[in-house]
Amino acid sequence: MCYKAAMQFDFDTLVERAGTGAMRWERYEGRDVVPLWVADTDFRTPPAVLAAFARRIEHGVFGYTSAPRALREEIVARTQRLYGWRIAPEWIVFLPGVVPGLHLAARHLVPADGHVLVPTPIYQHFKRAVELAPRAHDDVPLVLSGGRWVFDEQRLAAAVRPGTRLVFLCNPQNPGGTIFSRAELERLAAFAARHDLIVLSDEIHADLLLDAQPHVPIASLSPEVSRRTVTLASPNKTFNFPGAGCAWAIVEDAGLRRAFSSDHHATVHDPSLFGYVAALAAYRDAQPWLDAQLDYLRGNRDLVEAAVGGLRGLAMAHVQATYLAWIDANGLGVKDVQAHFLEHGVALSPGEQFGAPGYVRLNFGTQRARLEEALLRMRRAVDAAARA
Ligand SMILES: Cc1ncc(COP(=O)(O)O)c(C=O)c1O
Repeated sequence: MCYKAAMQFDFDTLVERAGTGAMRWERYEGRDVVPLWVADTDFRTPPAVLAAFARRIEHGVFGYTSAPRALREEIVARTQRLYGWRIAPEWIVFLPGVVPGLHLAARHLVPADGHVLVPTPIYQHFKRAVELAPRAHDDVPLVLSGGRWVFDEQRLAAAVRPGTRLVFLCNPQNPGGTIFSRAELERLAAFAARHDLIVLSDEIHADLLLDAQPHVPIASLSPEVSRRTVTLASPNKTFNFPGAGCAWAIVEDAGLRRAFSSDHHATVHDPSLFGYVAALAAYRDAQPWLDAQLDYLRGNRDLVEAAVGGLRGLAMAHVQATYLAWIDANGLGVKDVQAHFLEHGVALSPGEQFGAPGYVRLNFGTQRARLEEALLRMRRAVDAAARA
């Protein structure tokens, strides 16, 4: 761990979230359960964001608010600095969260008789977006290759139909934890070009990189790729303010942008002004906090990987990014693995939610002591399964 970075910020002190309406905590209120399911963290948002909130609250007037020009400029500059990808301010479409962006894409970028490719396992709202639109779709399972969850390019190609219009990409991948490499993204982009597909790339986890491998936005590969891509991004997860909520789509092609935005100011609202305030402060002033958080999360990730590696019946791939561990519990021989761990006092997300029964997803974005307690309980659950 980088001692200096971790020294400046406190990720260890337990923060009481019961009674704050926290979704992850509310469900098991009053029960002896460590809740490690919904993907937010238990860390206080960076001091720079708290200070920006305080200043805005002091002002006292919270009227209708336009997207700050300074935030657009910050996003443009950051995208150039981190990825060498030059975007224009007008390509940015602000959203209250990434999830509405998934639904807008399914409804407005895919015709009623169109078809979508959904690489699974995947964050459940991708599937919900196509199911509710509704649009025809095929699940295309990722495969474990070299210890990473990656695309099965043959199956992807085999799933294409004449009406296929869009392919989903979640990079870094939730729940698999993969950072897709430039070469893998180039092959996916070539596949999209071959079949004239739109790429909907959800990159909300792009700042949660635990390995040294860089994040490559697929749209940054070339202008041709950019013109067929909608990139969804947000600081919500990285800096832990999804309750304030600020996200955006980056869409170069004007026609695609118009179609994507057609519900804007109708069924989809702008972010709240607190979302704008938080996003700007996070990007301008919270990089040292983020560096320290990443160090802390690497420690948590290593702890989870060591613990799971030592438990018979459980397996997981190395987590390159995100604070989520995707655990294969098929070897436990238990019918409902989520229920089994819950009985032993740990709430995990059920694999069914991502299209993979027999798996569970563990959120390690929490204080070390709480994580250690959860891993102890999981050991007891595994021992109990072995005895049954
Ligand atoms: C891949 C992915 N996209 C979107 C979201 C949710 O984004 P938002 O809260 O901005 O709607 C999550 C949350 O877990 C996620 O993992």
